[in-house]
Amino acid sequence: LEDSPFFNAGKGAVFNAQGENELDASVMDGATLNAGAVAAVRRIANPIDLALRVMTESRHVMLIGAGAETFAVEQGFELVDPAYFHTERRWRQLQEAKAAETAAAGDDRTDHWYSTVGAVALDRQGNLAAGTSTGGLTNKRWGRVGDTPIVGAGTYANNESCAVSATGTGEYFIRYVVAHSICEYVRDGMSI
Ligand code: GLY
Repeated sequence: LEDSPFFNAGKGAVFNAQGENELDASVMDGATLNAGAVAAVRRIANPIDLALRVMTESRHVMLIGAGAETFAVEQGFELVDPAYFHTERRWRQLQEAKAAETAAAGDDRTDHWYSTVGAVALDRQGNLAAGTSTGGLTNKRWGRVGDTPIVGAGTYANNESCAVSATGTGEYFIRYVVAHSICEYVRDGMSI
């Protein structure tokens, strides 16, 4: 999904207000509650892979910006030219958003269906996992981080309940800690 220009993640990431692409991603293992996340990376083609590497190869949960990219190089990732993320459709959306003075890429009808990407998985042993990747919101402020890399907001997995990957305007998911809250409701007996 990150390699497709049709989704708001990786190659198809939306532009921020400065005409740059800043990408967020996270992944969580429901068996161990281990998690990894990256935020505001600009030169990583597949942020979800780097998030996984943060989980498995570092003692941290989240790395951001230049620090995340330095870690990526140490892990053998190739940094891409930021121009890799330039697509005409996303550039046009930025111009339209600026013209309309709105920061909400999600208001675009197409983006309602092809926006942030995520996945949840259940293996034969009953282990759950969740992962989410995004370019955030069109015309977002430089440095804005949404819910996607925040464990508990945009992504959560716990074998005792469920796995959640969220899409939508991240500020709401952060305020209500949505992914973790859903898992807690399910653990308390509410149906999915
Ligand atoms: N849910 C993606 C974002 O708000 O960045």
